[in-house]
Amino acid sequence: MELYIDTANIQEIKEALSWGCITGATTNPKIMSNEKGGYSFKDKILEIVGLVKEPVSVEVTEEDFQGMVGEAKIYSSWHENIVIKIPMGIEGLKAVAQLEKYENVKTNVTAIMATNQAILAALSGASYASIFYGRISDMGYDPVGVIKETSALYKELNIGTKLIVGSIRTILDVNKAFIAGADIVTVPFPILKKMTQNPKTEETIKEFNSIWKEMKEKGLIRLDQEIPARKLTFALANEV
Ligand code: E4P
Repeated sequence: MELYIDTANIQEIKEALSWGCITGATTNPKIMSNEKGGYSFKDKILEIVGLVKEPVSVEVTEEDFQGMVGEAKIYSSWHENIVIKIPMGIEGLKAVAQLEKYENVKTNVTAIMATNQAILAALSGASYASIFYGRISDMGYDPVGVIKETSALYKELNIGTKLIVGSIRTILDVNKAFIAGADIVTVPFPILKKMTQNPKTEETIKEFNSIWKEMKEKGLIRLDQEIPARKLTFALANEV
């Protein structure tokens, strides 16, 4: 079970990394377009890779085999942790086979909406296959069934392709994706943040801390050592 962050926003990445539970990042052209314009694509990706220090997916935008392979070779030469996202389709599958078998480039087949596509991605040698939870739901189908079937097949046939679930819209999507067998769920920052929150948790902590404060104020408990001043640095995310 692994969680990735689905963003190209540096502040969000730094903050989420400091929580210690993120082991990768995914981007796509739409995610890149959410960042303030005029930036260097290469510099931004390298900044993300430098922070995450784990796999970072970068998507190609060419639409034929030659173009995808050419683009993939450029991006993958930037850093060994870059995984190339290749859209599902005939040209995409050809590119995956070429990159994985002959070019030593790791791929992530993206925009998978059905089990048959996940089977093809795995058999062409993809390191990762990305099923799009929210977009499958948009069509009126059940993404849980697709994840369950794919995960069961991958396990039964001993396939090494890791199953990523993206296109996450709610906290429940994350839970259901893991329960259905996802190896990795890639989550936008606002949803990661919501995952930390629960009104009952907040109420409980408030209750405990106010009892503690009252005990200290009334002198009913003595602290043998004061808590040191709070100027700690986050080793996990440099400065947050
Ligand atoms: C991640 O790998 C996907 O590109 C992303 O989660 C797609 O999300 P969307 O369906 O909300 O655009």
